[in-house]
Amino acid sequence: MKVVVVANAKGGVGKTTLAINLAIRAACGEIPEVDPDKNILICDMDAQQNTSQTLLQMEKAGTNDYLLPPLHPDYNPEEDFDWDGRCSSTDIYYDKDVVPYPTVFSRLDVLPANGDHLELFQNLTKNVNDASLLDQICDHFRKFVEDADVAEEYDMIVFDTPPGKNFITIPVFRAATDILMPFKPEGFSVEGLAKMKASIEKENEYRDTPVKISGMVPNLVKHNNKHRDTLAGLHNNTEVAALLWDTTLHDRVAFVLDNMPLSETNFRYQDPKAEEEMCALVDQFRREVYGADIAHRPPPAAEADDEDDADDATVAATPAVHETTG
Ligand SMILES: Nc1ncnc2c1ncn2[C@@H]1O[C@H](COP(=O)(O)OP(=O)(O)OP(=O)(O)O)[C@@H](O)[C@H]1O
Ligand SMILES: [Mg+2]
Repeated sequence: MKVVVVANAKGGVGKTTLAINLAIRAACGEIPEVDPDKNILICDMDAQQNTSQTLLQMEKAGTNDYLLPPLHPDYNPEEDFDWDGRCSSTDIYYDKDVVPYPTVFSRLDVLPANGDHLELFQNLTKNVNDASLLDQICDHFRKFVEDADVAEEYDMIVFDTPPGKNFITIPVFRAATDILMPFKPEGFSVEGLAKMKASIEKENEYRDTPVKISGMVPNLVKHNNKHRDTLAGLHNNTEVAALLWDTTLHDRVAFVLDNMPLSETNFRYQDPKAEEEMCALVDQFRREVYGADIAHRPPPAAEADDEDDADDATVAATPAVHETTG
């Protein structure tokens, strides 16, 4: 079983987008290396609850800022006396029973985030410097991913994580088999990616088998010199060059989470360029994570605005329309 963690110390770089897309593609049979008789689980570890909201009908919970995972469809109040009928990813930290929710995809389950519980856990552990407590929480995580029932049900678990290295994310890193780092090719990407790589490699000291950094995935790429130069700089950086994926996701309206096709029978992007990029990305995932011996797809045909140096040109879903905010 693969335990894929999507992480980056920076926010807004596409962690949730990448995590959901890979989970859906796997659930729809697009990653044939995943056992077809087993399912895929996606766990939302982020109090922002973006994965949960995309895949599940979350409930408004009074005055709280956060949404509440709904009552589980299997919950029976007449029988389940010691369960309130809701389940979330925080339950793993406390070694509680974990009951993922079904989604519209028959082979994809989701373990939603409970924002209140995650925030409470974060506050409880914020200033704690207790290695044995951290070890205990990491054990709970490992126990979950190594659980026989979980292994029987799922062949791939994807964790969508919040930025930062803390008691919420460290246990996830230590339970991972593969880590993917989406990034936006701007700002301090070069230093940021190298730093994250070093930080994850440090976690290997605590593991019997080292985690594999399976790739750094350029996302939200724009057709401008700034992004081209940043990517070229990364390709020349010996620390990260070997981990850089050659498939990229451009900044496209189709990829905005709200526009994501969420249907078992039609999970493909209508925008052919977006679909082509996502398929190439899935192929690279298969090569890097599963060692699949499949050919590289030719890169999508050059865009009409490929030489456009406008800084913020979002590539529109319909080729005729260009949204420019800069
Ligand atoms: N390739 C892309 N093209 C256009 N929009 C994108 C692309 N990738 C992500 N987005 C959008 O950018 C925003 C940030 O993406 P996403 O939520 O996946 O990032 P994140 O790293 O999970 O952010 P956070 O750290 O806040 O959890 C979202 O609104 C998403 O829909
Ligand atoms: Mg996110």
